[in-house]
Amino acid sequence: MTAPQPLIAGNWKMNGLGASLEEARAVAAGLGDTPARVAICPPSILIHRMASALGGGPLLIGGQDHHWDDAGAFTGDVSAEMLADAGASLVILGHSERRAGYRETDELVASKVKAALKYGLEPIVCVGETLDERKAGKALEIVTGQVRGSLPSELAGKTFSVAYEPVWAIGTGLTPTTPEIEEVHRAIRATLVEMFGEAGKRVPILYGGSVKPGNAAEILHADEVGGALVGGASLKAADFLGIIRAL
Ligand code: PGA
Repeated sequence: MTAPQPLIAGNWKMNGLGASLEEARAVAAGLGDTPARVAICPPSILIHRMASALGGGPLLIGGQDHHWDDAGAFTGDVSAEMLADAGASLVILGHSERRAGYRETDELVASKVKAALKYGLEPIVCVGETLDERKAGKALEIVTGQVRGSLPSELAGKTFSVAYEPVWAIGTGLTPTTPEIEEVHRAIRATLVEMFGEAGKRVPILYGGSVKPGNAAEILHADEVGGALVGGASLKAADFLGIIRAL
């Protein structure tokens, strides 16, 4: 069984203006012969401009979220088809900032995953426990429950990844220990194999939460870590490239 090709995705969140395309350009120019697939997920309003500037190159472009429905009266929302039309090929779904701030449930995330697949977007589905859940010894139960509930059976045979992002590690500078990361990633792997059989062994399981150039090598080389989802450190090309080069 060949290991999945690693994926390193930058999540710009609600950061970036037109001038930030220079950072993306610098990332694309600096990729060299990295063994990873590398993506930047900018705010949706920048996707088209980024795709016009860099589309067709080695840097993949992704969205950060989309609506579950195809089209209609959903003021302020964007659809999966719109992201694909603008030039995205991937999308982050179920990020904890969406689960916590917009009350997204596993069922809702699963319906968004189906919409992504319908329009050819490769989903990066995020899961992760809160600090209280970890302290209560429930991290594995919460995370594997989110994997079961957020990944619809339609993913069978499709390309997708799962991102383990402990909520307490996002944007805090805190990270789990390597054995803690490995424990959760192994549990996610077992769940993926339960759900998708042999194909579940080839799904990259990304780690996210305060990944930086200084800790990337240890995290990226941990057992069952198939890449990273990077927030703050993806905003500057030098930092993001430092993480990519740590692979
Ligand atoms: P962070 O964010 O790298 O800034 O901790 C990660 C994420 O939310 O994807």
